[in-house]
Amino acid sequence: MNEKIQKQYNIADEVAELLLLRHGNTPKAFVHTYGCQGNVADSERIKGMLTKMGYTMTEDKEEADLILYNTCAIREHAEDRVFGNVGAIKRLKQTNPNLIIALCGCMMQQEHIREKIYNSYPFVDIVFGTHNQYTVPEIFKSYLLKGKRFFADMTETNEIVEGMPALRDNSAKAWLPIMYGCDNFCSYCVVPYVRGRERSRASADIIAEFKEIVAEGYKDITLLGQNVNSYGKGLDEDINFSKLLRSLNELDGEFTIRFMTSHPKDCTKELIDTIAECEKLSKHIHLPVQSGNNRILKEMNRHYTREKYLELISYAKEKIEGLSLTSDIIVGFPGETYEEFCDTLSLVKEVGYTSLFTFIFSSRKGTKASLMEDPVSYDEKNKWFKELCDLQEDIASEHSAKMLGKAYRVLCEGKSKTLDGYFAGRTDGNVIIEFPCDNEDLIGKFCHVKVTEPLNWLVRGELIK
Ligand code: SAH
Ligand code: SF4
Ligand code: F3S
Repeated sequence: MNEKIQKQYNIADEVAELLLLRHGNTPKAFVHTYGCQGNVADSERIKGMLTKMGYTMTEDKEEADLILYNTCAIREHAEDRVFGNVGAIKRLKQTNPNLIIALCGCMMQQEHIREKIYNSYPFVDIVFGTHNQYTVPEIFKSYLLKGKRFFADMTETNEIVEGMPALRDNSAKAWLPIMYGCDNFCSYCVVPYVRGRERSRASADIIAEFKEIVAEGYKDITLLGQNVNSYGKGLDEDINFSKLLRSLNELDGEFTIRFMTSHPKDCTKELIDTIAECEKLSKHIHLPVQSGNNRILKEMNRHYTREKYLELISYAKEKIEGLSLTSDIIVGFPGETYEEFCDTLSLVKEVGYTSLFTFIFSSRKGTKASLMEDPVSYDEKNKWFKELCDLQEDIASEHSAKMLGKAYRVLCEGKSKTLDGYFAGRTDGNVIIEFPCDNEDLIGKFCHVKVTEPLNWLVRGELIK
């Protein structure tokens, strides 16, 4: 085992004893995650470490001895939610004075946020960031021994410490980080500042973890990175993302491999050919375009043009049968005009995405875009945003109408969140499909579902034998 993790394991044993003294019985932890799947994967590893420290997990804040929020800084709205929810748990400290409140993740990497927490949220006990997660036992030990609020050292490191234990959330789907950080500095984005420089995990470590996940019974595995297409840069081995995918595709077992996020500037025809040729790779590409206008793309520092993007899309459509495409779009980038926004509408029409993640521009401290002039009002941007959503709704309805009567292989993920008596799963193309079912044994298994009712962002159907 990695020496650094072994050291943390030893400290975790000491922490377990200190926690037992503090709480009198097995302590319970409530962990909530904001933000992207990268954060979800981090939380799984943090929870693995908390388990080593003697915690059991709870879904109920009221009975928790530790409340930990893993935070996201991507948009102002994400940060506001965190502040609101942190404010709301203050009262729990009055009923349970031993309760520990801890915050970690991307927001905590920002100096101005740490200051705000320090000054205005005195009931927050522990703060740590994205670079020092594996030292959770050490952080808790310092807090428990000193009995004072503990704000961890935020020194950035490019080192990847392998071997953190993961306590995974879902019985069917698993997340597997293949790289960390981002070097792209899109002008609107805070990620490079809060996650540090891009670094890839050695392929042997990824393959070993992938095999473990398959052996544990997971059938849907998503490889994670901010820009998976540049996987392998800086590594001392002859590898790139396509090669990694091909070696995972060859492993034994029944599973689907997904990945996110692909950056169009590094998306190659080699990658598209790999998706077309590897039978275990999902026929879905999430390829965020952000804007359909070349001037805006340049201002965003995205390093591709509308034409280059559309050329990739048409190559992928030609090569990959049953291809499903999704994207992220930012509406109202500083200085964007309505005419420029219309280029985004026309691109969305031309590509025909299965679904879209749409965002109104949010100014992030420290980014280049936060210094640009932004003359269009929020209300106006909101109108454009609605126009885009309406267009996408029509496109999505057309897609699901085409699914009517067809049968799909679906991984059953569990009970539907919207309908009683229904289960939900995902097609290979990442479309959510709901079907009536009461057989819990099906959860985590592949089944076949025929579509009977196409809606817009999901479809309903029935199980077929
Ligand atoms: N690495 C991924 C994106 C990660 S962030 C990529 O490059 O595609 C997820 C999405 O959030 C982005 O694709 C973008 O659409 C959106 N986003 C990021 N910063 C934003 C901001 N300041 N305002 C609004 N949306 C933003
Ligand atoms: Fe942000 Fe751009 Fe990096 Fe994606 S590629 S995380 S949008 S800086
Ligand atoms: Fe948010 Fe950090 Fe992910 S800012 S989107 S949780 S990388």
